[in-house]
Amino acid sequence: MKSSRFPSLQKSAVAAARGAGGLMRLHLRRTKKVNESCHHDIKLDLDVRCQRAITRLLARDFPGIPVLGEEGIDERVRAAEARWVVDPIDGTVNFAHGIPHAAVSIALQVREGDAYATKVGVVYDPFMDELWTAIVGRPALLNGRRIHVSKRRNLGESIVSLGFAKSTESLDHMLPVFNELVHRVRKIRLMGSAALALTYVADGRFDGYVESGIRLWDIAAGGLIVQCAGGVFEPGDTAEEFRHSLNCNNRIIDRELKAAVVAGLARGAR
Ligand code: IPD
Repeated sequence: MKSSRFPSLQKSAVAAARGAGGLMRLHLRRTKKVNESCHHDIKLDLDVRCQRAITRLLARDFPGIPVLGEEGIDERVRAAEARWVVDPIDGTVNFAHGIPHAAVSIALQVREGDAYATKVGVVYDPFMDELWTAIVGRPALLNGRRIHVSKRRNLGESIVSLGFAKSTESLDHMLPVFNELVHRVRKIRLMGSAALALTYVADGRFDGYVESGIRLWDIAAGGLIVQCAGGVFEPGDTAEEFRHSLNCNNRIIDRELKAAVVAGLARGAR
């Protein structure tokens, strides 16, 4: 796919994200239909409706590009030249409880050999009306203005966000990391939306973000936005398809953060 197509792909992704964001705003304080719930997660009917609305708009503009989404996977995504990676509501549990911290996340990925690389990223927070965008090789933007990761030089003055995924294993995995980091950083933040944690690293509000067991649709768009803002975005593969461990930071604290995570994991293994 030619890079000259990326701006028009981004335009559609922005329109789709704004459309789904409008639905989220409308429903924040309303009673929501729950399709499924388990101990650490909730799935709403609105997740499905938002993904449908996004898919409709993207398919109208780019009929040949399949969608890999939290609420359904088009089987063509494993072989297509390009694919959309969509989380219609990232931060569903926040949203379900009426907490206005959730976002729409849409990435365009292009096949490179056996893997896919993100070329376009859009994250939209409908409650703050903040739109983060990136096209590979260009600066990351927040509402059209260039953004950059923080310049904080050490972990001691940093805010590091942690994500706690849904499985007991990933919670058990992250708790020792929490116990280690909480003593080394200025503040830990657990906000409940991976896409927003990444964009907050991209524009310097946070200095790092760490999670284990995160899904591709939560992080694909935000990851490119972090990279285009000068930060480190390192998703590690796991045994499960589309599931990753994640290290993200402002680049300056990279070594210190990784060492602290390793120390936390070692503490957990004892
Ligand atoms: C979740 C959020 C949360 C992260 C979980 C994700 P969802 O996504 O991003 O911050 O810790 O791992 O699953 O389910 O709200 O789209």
